[in-house]
Order: sequence, then C-alpha cells, then structure tokens
Amino acid sequence: MEKKSTNQTPDIAIPPSDLGTLDDIEIVYYPDEVLRQPAATVKDMGDSLRATIDRMVFLMRHARGIGLAAPQVGILERFFVVQVDNDPVYVFINPSIVGTSHETGVYEEGCLSIPGLYADVKRPSEIQVQAWNENGRPFTLNADGMLARVILHELDHLNGVLFLDHLSDRKREKLLQKYRKPEDSTR
Ligand code: NI
Repeated sequence: MEKKSTNQTPDIAIPPSDLGTLDDIEIVYYPDEVLRQPAATVKDMGDSLRATIDRMVFLMRHARGIGLAAPQVGILERFFVVQVDNDPVYVFINPSIVGTSHETGVYEEGCLSIPGLYADVKRPSEIQVQAWNENGRPFTLNADGMLARVILHELDHLNGVLFLDHLSDRKREKLLQKYRKPEDSTR
C-alpha cells in the first residue's frame, strides 16, 4: 500500500551501489493480469523465501510504500511485508484474518501497483490476524488503525483484489481515467 502523505521521511538512505539489488525484482503495475490471480499457499519457508522477503522490504522502502505483497513483484504466493512509519517490519506468510471488528473506518488508500490513484476505502477498524513470520514461526497479531488497514489491503492482493474493487463502478471508472501505467520500473 502507498501512503499519500509526503511528510513521511525516508527511514533509510540508499547508497547508489545498492540499487543493483533491485535489478531482479520490480513492481508489477495495473492492469497486469498477475495482480488478478489468487496466490498459492507458501510451502517452503526457507532461505530462498527469506532472501525474496529481504528484497521486497528493500523495494517497499525504496518506493516509499508501507506494504508490499508478493503478487506485486510477480510472485503468486501468499506472503507480504508491512512497515508503517517507524514500526518494525512485519512479515506475513500464509496469513488469515481470524477476527474483525464491526466498527469500520474510512481512509484514503493508494497502491504501489497503481501509482497516482488514491481513494477512500472502508474497512474494519480492528482485526486479528494469524500468520507465520520470516523464521517460519506462527504468530497472532491484533492490529488497528493504519496497520490493520495495510494488512487488509495486502491480504486483498493475495486474492487478486485491488483497492479499486472496493469502490463503486462510477467512482472506479472516474479514477481510472486519470491512470497512466508507468513505462519503466521503480527506478
Ligand atoms: Ni496495493
């Protein structure tokens, strides 16, 4: 997920030499079909997955995002990374929502795969999510506020769902008139 406010200071400086790390991973942009496919359960939580997760965290920060799901880098598997402001990075592998509040909230969302578009989306205010972390350990997390919103946004990606799908047809069509798919990658 992309946060619209530009007052968020980047929390890491990227040395130019490290930009090469992004060569083998890049963001897939709407309307690429991969964003519409349901992702498969992760079966092997090993070193290869951890390496991919590291690169995704790097890419998310580079793109000033606060969440990035595997399908957004062309990997159709059920995992995503989240980092809201100065919170730690959370990794969610094979996540499932085990509880949601009746209370809902509305907030403006964006998406790294749909650059330049933002819209208010209504979601549950609080959730309980169960998942496995990058070390293959199961955990349960209660989240509210922005963290809950990002988790729900990223979890949607694992099911081929985009924030646009939460809008009325009319709103979505109007918004998409402004959309231009980026020519190049994130660099
Ligand atoms: Ni997104």
